[in-house]
Amino acid sequence: MSEEAGLKLVEGVKYFHISQAVGLKTVKRVIRAVDGVSFSTMPSETVGLVGESGCGKSTVGKILMRLLNPDNGSVWLDDLCLTSLSGEALRKARAKMSMVFQDSTAALNPRQRVADIVVESLVAQRRIKTVADRRAEAVRLMQTVGLPADMIYRYPHELSGGQRQRVCIARAVSGEPSYIVLDEPTSALDVSVRGQIISLLRDLQNERGFGYLLISHDISLVKHICKSVMVMYAGRVVESGDVVDVLSNPRHPYTQILLKSVLTTQSTGIQLAQSVKGELGNALEEMAGCRFRFRCPYAREICSSTTPELAVHSGGNQNVACHFSDSLS
Ligand SMILES: Nc1ncnc2c1ncn2[C@@H]1O[C@H](COP(=O)(O)OP(=O)(O)O)[C@@H](O)[C@H]1O
Ligand SMILES: [Mg+2]
Repeated sequence: MSEEAGLKLVEGVKYFHISQAVGLKTVKRVIRAVDGVSFSTMPSETVGLVGESGCGKSTVGKILMRLLNPDNGSVWLDDLCLTSLSGEALRKARAKMSMVFQDSTAALNPRQRVADIVVESLVAQRRIKTVADRRAEAVRLMQTVGLPADMIYRYPHELSGGQRQRVCIARAVSGEPSYIVLDEPTSALDVSVRGQIISLLRDLQNERGFGYLLISHDISLVKHICKSVMVMYAGRVVESGDVVDVLSNPRHPYTQILLKSVLTTQSTGIQLAQSVKGELGNALEEMAGCRFRFRCPYAREICSSTTPELAVHSGGNQNVACHFSDSLS
């Protein structure tokens, strides 16, 4: 199906089936965390993915990495369909991708020294075998991410947050992947070290041509480093396109509200302005209609019955999923 280079998700779907106690009863709920999401990223390019906490961003990242199996849809790495691979073939293909998580403390094994953490995947793939090679490779990776060589003997709790995230980045780049999913890579860090981690990620991309999917709630960061952006709401992409088009001239009511809420952004994620009523949680269970309709100031009858498709906006270059976006300013 796909001949171009790139990492792609085609119509990805992931529902979580959960049981919840309500009084004396157990109620089954379906969380439609990712519902028909498509996108692609190319080498040397950064695609941004923004949206409130709980809208499905990390689930998209995990589907791409094959850490989660999608219920539907496919993941492509260049011309290889990852969703139809298993065993050795999948393991090989996975080596071309890696992920950096928000919480470096949780992402690192507290009982492993840095030297073992950073070369873990190379050892698993039997790309390095001797103790001397492991040490030399660990030292080389420390240089790559700007850490002193003697830090390889430390445990994660003996490092600062910024140093731990550098170790996570060293591990992510160790197998020379083509694509890296960056899931809120700086949001758990002090403001003072965020810039350093971003420059490191940019330098590595310039040197090695990584394609990044940057999941972030930091709109100014996305504006600064992404070429294109997708805005997700309750499992669906509501707006996507060139970063300048989408962020300078948002066409979906949700993107417009999201950009106005930037000032209230917390380190834990985007909190929409108090004035926007409703909750994301309920919207994730909706089948038909626009999931933003409960909070949308422009919602009308059709928004409850018909799901708006993502389509090119008449007045701009971006794609928008809204029945009325053409008539909104
Ligand atoms: N393993 C899981 N089991 C059940 N529900 C999950 C699971 N992972 C995520 N979810 C739910 O799916 C929705 C999307 O989660 P997530 O992708 O982590 O959002 P985000 O990264 O945008 O904050 C949330 O409602 C979350 O609670
Ligand atoms: Mg997340």
